[in-house]
Amino acid sequence: MAEETLDLRHLPKPEAYAQLAEQIDAVLEGIDDDVAAMATVSCLVHHAFAHLWTGFYRVVEPGRLLRVGPYQGTLGCLEIPFGQGVCGTAAADGRTVVVEDVHAFPGHITCDARSRSEIVVPVTDRTGALVAVFDIDSDRPAAFDDADRDGLERILARFAR
Ligand code: SME
Repeated sequence: MAEETLDLRHLPKPEAYAQLAEQIDAVLEGIDDDVAAMATVSCLVHHAFAHLWTGFYRVVEPGRLLRVGPYQGTLGCLEIPFGQGVCGTAAADGRTVVVEDVHAFPGHITCDARSRSEIVVPVTDRTGALVAVFDIDSDRPAAFDDADRDGLERILARFAR
């Protein structure tokens, strides 16, 4: 197992995500457990980029309600209805949402006042059902772009395998 928690901020994003995906696969090899996988992904992504908040909101009532899951960072909101905030929007629409300025996003839910930008990626299981969203908050404006979307969607595809 690759035991180290890597800091990948010095690398171009595509390389950083490739290295991260490799490490996550190595750490989780032989482990078929979504909670362990969510905790590990949260930890390694969070520390690789020194994000403000990194973690999962799980679908506990399909089409209606998300509840917080494994995460790293300051205290997260416990529950988010589908359609509310960035997480609820990504869940309702089933697509990745990149927000360059959270203050300009209607209905943004503030869990940590330092948050400036955000990305939320839907997580589906092998049947294609939405099981969670993966939410990252940054204290930097416009921290996320297509490289994050691609890298994260690739990492999260493990939940559909
Ligand atoms: N900002 C999110 C809420 C979750 S927290 O930031 C951890 C949103 O609007 O969905």
